[in-house]
Amino acid sequence: MTNKELRDKFIEFFESKKHVNIPSFSLIPENDPTCLFISAGMQPLIPYLAGEKHPEGNRLCNFQKCIRTNDIDEVGDDTHLTFFEMLGNWSLGDYFKEDSIKWSYEFLTSEKYLNLDKNYLAVTCYKGNKKYNIPKDTESYDLWVKNGISPKKMAFLGDDDNWWPKIDMNGLCGPDTEIFYWTGDSTPPLEFDPEDDNWVEIWNNVFMQYKFDNGKISELENKNVDTGMGLERVLCVVNNYNNIYESELFKDVILELEKLSGKLYKNFISQMRIIADHARTATFILSEKNKITPSNSDKGYILRRLIRKVVRLAKEIGIPENISITSNLAEIYIKKFKNIYPELLENKDFIISELKKEEDKFELTLDNGIKEFNKAVKILKNNNKKIIPGDVVFRLYDTYGFPFELTKNMAKIENLNISEEDFCNRFKKHQEVSKKGSDKKFKGGLADNNYETVKLHTTAHLLIEALRRVLGDHVFQRGANITQERLRFDFSHPNKLTEEEIEKIENLVNKKIKEKIPVICKEMCLDDAKKCGAMGIFDNKYGNNVKVYQIGDFSNEICGGPHVENTSELGVFKIKKQESSSAGVRRIKAVLLKE
Ligand code: SER
Repeated sequence: MTNKELRDKFIEFFESKKHVNIPSFSLIPENDPTCLFISAGMQPLIPYLAGEKHPEGNRLCNFQKCIRTNDIDEVGDDTHLTFFEMLGNWSLGDYFKEDSIKWSYEFLTSEKYLNLDKNYLAVTCYKGNKKYNIPKDTESYDLWVKNGISPKKMAFLGDDDNWWPKIDMNGLCGPDTEIFYWTGDSTPPLEFDPEDDNWVEIWNNVFMQYKFDNGKISELENKNVDTGMGLERVLCVVNNYNNIYESELFKDVILELEKLSGKLYKNFISQMRIIADHARTATFILSEKNKITPSNSDKGYILRRLIRKVVRLAKEIGIPENISITSNLAEIYIKKFKNIYPELLENKDFIISELKKEEDKFELTLDNGIKEFNKAVKILKNNNKKIIPGDVVFRLYDTYGFPFELTKNMAKIENLNISEEDFCNRFKKHQEVSKKGSDKKFKGGLADNNYETVKLHTTAHLLIEALRRVLGDHVFQRGANITQERLRFDFSHPNKLTEEEIEKIENLVNKKIKEKIPVICKEMCLDDAKKCGAMGIFDNKYGNNVKVYQIGDFSNEICGGPHVENTSELGVFKIKKQESSSAGVRRIKAVLLKE
């Protein structure tokens, strides 16, 4: 199925259910300073979901361009993108759960539309919230079962998974029911395990019936439905592809990258995917009538980072410097999407010239940085010094826009070390300062990497090692989920933990926290990481080059980060709860207490 066929089927289906097809809105939110880009199809519809009358009626559908940068570190895997399209249908106070679920099921499984096997589908529903007196969504559960989903393929989950957008966040909100598709190599297991990454979320139906206002929740007069389905992911599953990059949306770009670099995709999967994704996002940002250009703030900064990352990765895979890689790929994307998004063709000259200009600026930055670097090296060598101090590395980064990774590589060539810790400290301080300014802008759910979650992430590394040392080598991580408040951690182990075991695990983690061990990040190729004994979790997700985080000689894990710099930052580790997650898998919920 081509992307055009998929769009047409979706729109035709919902038109047959009396929806009006409305156009995709601009990527740039109008009158909404809290968000940098549109990140969901419902965003431009907020006034209508809140009760205002929509000129086209109370049943709408469309496909919407979206940008999400909160998952940017996941890009390169099989399912994440920074730019994606969302297919959506809405009820503005009209139909509710019954029709919404019936139609989603019909669209996915009927022969005329997607014809997916219902055994490959699984569904989650909201399990309720006592604090706000929100009931468990058994109504949706019953409706799914009535339509044909087996109760074994259903699960009830809490605020983190089945509430949209976020519990306690001011604005319109509600419980949701999410639909997953089995993408594993084998046929789907009889029972649904929401922690199994082979179940990929493809569609989210939100029952937007509440409003949050500073800790108070109230019912809306309108009971709305807001659904969003990822076009790229669905295209992948209906065609039985292994990942989103196999579809016609990216295929030519990957082929072009192979041609330009003279390298095979299979050897540079992660780099080529990131290039393909980021170049597409940059092309779409530049196609907007608002004329965003690369800069050092807000939207322009995101654009700049995307373009520069493409240029760096292009160098890494050996694409010659005289080729303007971003404009080259933009040409392909413009051709591919011009009929759906005419703004691409209308703004083609602007897109191409801005991309070329930014690439040139980046080259200049690199040249200046190299000159500055060489000056610093000369002084160090004259003084018989072997370490480039953190302030020099930071100045290269901050003043000259010189990427840290490049400084590191060049230092290696010169046989010099760099004071990475010092640089990281300075970098963190700098980020904190600039974060304060941009925090408000990211409120729309674009960034969720706050310090509390970073701390719990490092704690997870300590925990898995402590579990293995206390319980044995059969223990492996089976899943982890972190919110600002707690760490939820699943691991293989057959029995309930005894109180003694729990105490030993807590003590060991707390001992490592007290030892004030620096957390060190090293980059290496996957083979080297394996050779140095680094633990990995989801083998197939890794590209050729990985980051390995080491905590003294205690923990050694392949991981994307981010992490704290030193275990002393963590506080006191406490296991709050243990339960069974599925057969042979235990679940721990743990927190960090302030000392
Ligand atoms: N707003 C929901 C989401 O973005 C459904 O469209 O997932």
